[in-house]
Amino acid sequence: MNIGVISDLHVDINEAADGPSIEEALLEVSNENKLDALIIAGDISNDVNRSLAVLSSLKAQSGIPVLFVPGNHDYWSKVNGIKDTWQVYKQFQTYEGNLCERPFELDNGWVVIGSSGWYDYTMGDSKYSTEQFDQMQAMDRMWHDGHWVNWGMSNRDVHQYFKERLENELEAYRGKPVIMVTHMLSHSHFKVPTPHPVWEYFNAFLGSTEYAELYRKYEVRYGIMGHVHYRKKLDYHGIELICACLGYRREWRQPSAVQEIRNCMQIISV
Ligand SMILES: [Fe+2]
Repeated sequence: MNIGVISDLHVDINEAADGPSIEEALLEVSNENKLDALIIAGDISNDVNRSLAVLSSLKAQSGIPVLFVPGNHDYWSKVNGIKDTWQVYKQFQTYEGNLCERPFELDNGWVVIGSSGWYDYTMGDSKYSTEQFDQMQAMDRMWHDGHWVNWGMSNRDVHQYFKERLENELEAYRGKPVIMVTHMLSHSHFKVPTPHPVWEYFNAFLGSTEYAELYRKYEVRYGIMGHVHYRKKLDYHGIELICACLGYRREWRQPSAVQEIRNCMQIISV
């Protein structure tokens, strides 16, 4: 079974007047590779309605399971006016390929378990306090989730909420081969290298070091993540960790979306 892995499509930001849309390009590359399933590790767009439309269209046109966890951008209420991010979370639950609180069993016995994940500041430099990280701004810059996301609880509590659910599901499927998916980084290897004057602070908003403990405790086989716009892999005690972000067009190395997606998408065979 061939499973395509990609994240951070940012279809709205990456729209271009000429050439195919990101969705069309992704379909073309998925077909080329004869995928049996596609995993998108979050950040399809800056709006729940747009992201859901992309997912439905990809699923209908590809005819394969399109599995997904929402990323921080997918939760943004920049245009839809929704005040409570849990309402956005519930709206995403209407899509059947959403992995949050809904593990997906593949035909061959493998299980895909996922959650958006969140950040608990463990990836930031410990010279900053929790109160400083709670500000979500420093050095005249701000982390925009502070503007457009409102969980009504602290970031650390959101992380805890998602982590607990993830752990319960991993426990329920213990002994089965598992692919774990988060949007947030699940291992420090993928954060922005330090020393770096800005990222020593802002790395705090990239994920949590606690997710890596779950990989080893539950003998997960693959760990998928996104968010940081890197394309990197890590062999972590025999667990293959993959970050395959398409990222923003200005970060691309290829002129066309099809070529860039060919370079970016990772395929795992299980
Ligand atoms: Fe993100």
